[in-house]
Amino acid sequence: MAMELKKVVPFGRSLDEYVKMFNLTQEDLQKSILSVGDGPASFNAEGTKLGYKIKSVDPLYELTSEQIRSRFDEVVDNIIEQVKNSPNDWIWTYHGSPDGLRKNRERVIDIFCEDYERGKGENRYELGALPKLKYGDSAYNIGLCSHFLFLYSEQFDANFHFDSICEILRVCQEVRIFPLLTLSLMPSPHLQPVLAKLEAKGYSCEIHKVSYQLQRGGNEMIKIIKTES
Ligand SMILES: C[S@@+](CC[C@H](N)C(=O)[O-])C[C@H]1O[C@@H](n2cnc3c(N)ncnc32)[C@H](O)[C@@H]1O
Repeated sequence: MAMELKKVVPFGRSLDEYVKMFNLTQEDLQKSILSVGDGPASFNAEGTKLGYKIKSVDPLYELTSEQIRSRFDEVVDNIIEQVKNSPNDWIWTYHGSPDGLRKNRERVIDIFCEDYERGKGENRYELGALPKLKYGDSAYNIGLCSHFLFLYSEQFDANFHFDSICEILRVCQEVRIFPLLTLSLMPSPHLQPVLAKLEAKGYSCEIHKVSYQLQRGGNEMIKIIKTES
């Protein structure tokens, strides 16, 4: 197993990582974006500064920034140690090394924490958890889900994945999910059954290669679009 995690960890990624993981174009970034399970990513903080319209949703947002930071501090040593102990599992073209990864994750959580209280006041960070969202039908153009669905396939079953993706597609015109591997670096066992059910419901599902890769083999993103009228 590449990595063992007792629970979903508060590790966040940057705007640049989101752009690469989701093949986001300048045109995409002008649209309204709902980032589900956004956790302590700096995507919202950095994107808002550039004028993008991003809403982040996560159950973690019941906590204060100090509590989120201390949960990060509790797990970071152990995770970087696990990464160092499994050198064949990782591709270092983006972060350079395990210490580079740590530095980037610390930079991201610093930016997140600095923005968090202001962002909560502006309703940019809202408490919420799949498989239900409180937003109206087609309220957002693009839904994103980074490092939650499919990654945690051992913790969340296929029905949870199907219901969650349908719910994001109720609220957003399309959803993009990355990565498609589990924490064990295996293709998610839920992917094909969930895709078959989505296609039967009239959704179009496309797997795209992306330029971002940290988990070895984890360089694919799925884009699911409503095709029914
Ligand atoms: C590994 S973090 C990824 C954070 C961010 N998306 C990123 O890639 O930087 C996974 C996130 O999923 C969130 N999460 C856990 N259960 C969830 C649920 N039922 N619905 C939405 N998000 C959930 C966690 O709180 C955590 O912030």
